[in-house]
Amino acid sequence: RKPVTLHRLQDMHKSGEKIAMLTCYDAAFASVLDEAGVDILLVGDSLGTVLQAEATTTPVRLDAMEYHTRCVARGNKTAWLLGDLPFGSYHASPEQAWHSSLALMQAGAHMVKLECGAWTAPTVRFLTERGVPVCAHLGFTPQTVSALGGYKVQGRGEAAAQVKAQAQAMVEAGAQMLLFEMIPADLGREITAWSPVPVIGIGAGVGCSGQVLVLHDMLDITPGRRPRFVKNFMQGASSVQDAVRRYVAEVKAGTFPDESLHAF
Ligand code: KIV
Ligand code: NA
Repeated sequence: RKPVTLHRLQDMHKSGEKIAMLTCYDAAFASVLDEAGVDILLVGDSLGTVLQAEATTTPVRLDAMEYHTRCVARGNKTAWLLGDLPFGSYHASPEQAWHSSLALMQAGAHMVKLECGAWTAPTVRFLTERGVPVCAHLGFTPQTVSALGGYKVQGRGEAAAQVKAQAQAMVEAGAQMLLFEMIPADLGREITAWSPVPVIGIGAGVGCSGQVLVLHDMLDITPGRRPRFVKNFMQGASSVQDAVRRYVAEVKAGTFPDESLHAF
């Protein structure tokens, strides 16, 4: 397949062709995922919990993100490569966010993702004006789990208006992709219908432009409890490659996630 570009992702959003995204942290998996047709590889700071056995993603450092981004970039041929800016690497100033983004771009990222709120609008603008495509992560933001008081669904009831306002502010600041974690499915659908840019969901319902899962969650090798929106794609699969192909097929067909995985 031809390399996935921002234009292509934009076209998919407009035409309703679903976008399949998974996290990825090394070269071996990068080539498996790329060959299975995953559109976007996310070098997520979830590597803090998945690879480093930290309790949360908060302690992840930029040098780890850089290292894993380089590993994934070497194994990937055609997927769009998204790198997470870790906690503390973009909070001090837009200039700090620029230096951190530069490190990920030099390691091979095509786009950076940061966990956003109203306060990140100047940072998103600063980066996009300088040629760094930005994905704005909204809804539940794991890096600030302590401040949020736990793993809680965001944007329920009256809080929906605030989530929509944040999405609008990020798009106005130049964000070229939105990612929503743990919001009601109706809100995910509504924002996607409104959004001029692709909207990726994780626990955000089937109405988004695309879906993402943590790779180790969908392969069922994450120790401990998994979030309720996760599906084990190894069940009934003949290999890891087969599990990833099934995930891509279900996302593309709009059969993942189904209602049973999304009760909020
Ligand atoms: O780090 C990560 O894996 C993420 C996804 C959960 C969206 O940010
Ligand atoms: Na993340």
